[in-house]
Amino acid sequence: MHIPRYFIDELMAKVDIVELINSYIPLRKMGKNYVACCPFHTEKTPSFTVSSEKQFYHCFGCGASGSAIGFMLNYARFEFVEAIQEIASRVGMEVVYEQNDTSPIDNSIVDLYQIMQQVATYYRQQLRESQIAINYLKQRGLTGQITRYFGLGYAPNGWDNVLKIFGTDAETRNNLLKTGLVTQNDAGQRYDRFRNRIIFPILDRRGRIIAFGGRVIDQSKPKYLNSPETTLFRKGGELYGWYFARKQGVLKTVIVVEGYMDVVALAQYGIYYAVATLGTATTAKHLTFLFRNVSEIIFCFDGDAAGQKAAWRALEISLPLLQGSRQIRFIFLPQEHDPDGLIRLEGTQAFNKRIAQATPLSKFLFDTLQQQVDMNSIDGKAKLVELAKPLINQLPTGAYQDLMLQELSKLTGLNNLFVAKPQLKQSMDTSFRELSLIEQAIVYLLHYPELVKLIKYPEKLSFLNQDYIKLLLELIEFIQFHPQLRLGAICEHWRGTEYESTINLLAKKKALSFENITGIIEDEFTSILNRLYQSYQKSIDFLAQINSKLAQITQENI
Ligand code: GTP
Ligand code: MN
Repeated sequence: MHIPRYFIDELMAKVDIVELINSYIPLRKMGKNYVACCPFHTEKTPSFTVSSEKQFYHCFGCGASGSAIGFMLNYARFEFVEAIQEIASRVGMEVVYEQNDTSPIDNSIVDLYQIMQQVATYYRQQLRESQIAINYLKQRGLTGQITRYFGLGYAPNGWDNVLKIFGTDAETRNNLLKTGLVTQNDAGQRYDRFRNRIIFPILDRRGRIIAFGGRVIDQSKPKYLNSPETTLFRKGGELYGWYFARKQGVLKTVIVVEGYMDVVALAQYGIYYAVATLGTATTAKHLTFLFRNVSEIIFCFDGDAAGQKAAWRALEISLPLLQGSRQIRFIFLPQEHDPDGLIRLEGTQAFNKRIAQATPLSKFLFDTLQQQVDMNSIDGKAKLVELAKPLINQLPTGAYQDLMLQELSKLTGLNNLFVAKPQLKQSMDTSFRELSLIEQAIVYLLHYPELVKLIKYPEKLSFLNQDYIKLLLELIEFIQFHPQLRLGAICEHWRGTEYESTINLLAKKKALSFENITGIIEDEFTSILNRLYQSYQKSIDFLAQINSKLAQITQENI
C-alpha cells in the first residue's frame, strides 16, 4: 500500500505549517515569519524561522529546513506514512491509500492478523471468567483498568481450547499453526501452545497483534512462554509496550526495562513510556528503531553484576548510534529489585527521582573503566586512555565525541588525544550567483511560484541540454497545475525521487530571506529567462548553421 502523490499534494495545500510546528514548539511572530530557538541544535537566540507564506521552515544557524511533512519526520520522528496520517487527521482529511502493484496485499497475512485479534478477544473473555487468573493479577497488584489497557487475557487449561473453537476448517487450522497459537508434535498431533497462562498480547507499532507472551500463574516452568518466530513476529526487533507508549503522544524519552510486568507496573504508576525487550538482550535493531522516535533512551537494570554486564553491553551497542542530540542514561536498581516491585514499593515520585538522576553514558563509561585501572599511577592513566579510546572512537564525530575526549584528557592529564577532524559538512551558503542559470530559475520558482506566469515559452527551454533542465520543466508544469502550493509543499512533491536532495538544497538558497521589493524579483527572473532563451537561440542558430553546412556538403557531393 502506498499513499498517492496527488493526495500528498492536496494535504500540503491544506496544512498550515505554522500551526503544526507551533503545537510542538511555541513560535513567536517576527515580521512576516515566525521564530523560535531551533529544536535541531542548541542555541540561545532564535534562528529557527517558519514562513507561513512559503509553508517552509529553515534554521539560519544549523541549516535544517523542510516542509510540514519534513518537520514531522525530523522533529516529531514519525515514519513517513505516520506523518501523513497525523497531518491528515489534524486537517480532517481521510488518507487515500493505493495498492502498490509491486507488493500486492497478501491476503494470507491479513488472515493471520485477524486470527490473532480473534484469539486475543477470546483470551480476554476467558480472563473475565477465571477467578484464579483474576486473583493472580490482583495479588500482583494490577488494577482492572491497567489489565484492560494492555489487553491482558488468560489462556485456560486444556490442550485444545483454541484449536477446537477456531480451527473449524482446514485453512484456519493451518493458520493457527502459522501464528504459533497451535503447535504440533513429531507425531503430527496438534495442541494449543498457551495453556493456563496469563496472556500479554504483543503489538507492532501500528497496534496489530503479532505475538503473545504467556506467564504461568503457578510455579510451573517455563515461567514465560512466547510465540515462536512467525511471518508476523520477528524476534530481536520488537519491543513490548512501544505501541502503548507511543499512543500517549510524541515521546522524547523511553525507558528500556526487562520484563512485561515492569512495563505494565510502570504504566499503572503513570510512567507510560517504558518498553521491554522480550527476554532478549538489547540489540542494535532495537536502538536504531527507538532513536528514530526518541532522543533519549534510559536503560533500567538490576543493581547486581548481571545488570552491570547487561548495561555495559547496551553501552557498547549504543556508541555508534550517538549522533546529534541522542542520549543514553542508565538506572541501576537496588539489588533484588525490578521496576515492577520497586515502583509498587516506593511509588511514582521516588521512581521519577531515579529517572531524573539516571547516570549519563559518559559517567558510566569512565567510572567503569576507572575501576579497572589504578588512577594514582601513570601506568594506570595510560591504561585508561588505552581502554577508552577504542570506545570513544566508535562515537560519530561531533560535539559529543569531542567532549568525551576532553573528559579523558581531564582525567589523565594527557592532551593530544584528539582524533582527526572531519571536513565541515557541505557549506550551505554557496552564493546564489555560483548557481547555473537553470538552478537560479529553480530557486526563484520555488520561492515565488507565481513567477511561472512569466514563462511564455517553456518549449524553448525544453531544447536546452543542461543539468536539471528536466527538473525545471517538471517544476514549471507542477506549479501550473497547483498554483496554490507554496515552497514547502512543492519540495515535498519530489521526496523519494532522484531530485529530492537537489530541490532541498536549492530551496535553502536565499531561503526565507529575500523579499520582493518593487518588482525586483520579476525583473531578475525575467533576465534569467531571457538569458536561457538566448542560449536556446544560439543553439538554434548553431543547428541552422550545421544544417546549411550539411546541405552544402551534400550538394557538393552530388
Ligand atoms: P515476573 O516474574 O512475572 O515479575 O516477570 P518479569 O516480567 O519481571 O520477568 P523477569 O524479570 O523474570 O524476566 C524478564 C523477561 O524475560 C520476561 O518478561 C520475559 O520476557 C523473559 N523471561 C523470563 N523468564 C522466561 C522464561 O522462562 N522463558 C522465556 N522465553 N522468557 C522468559
Ligand atoms: Mn518481575
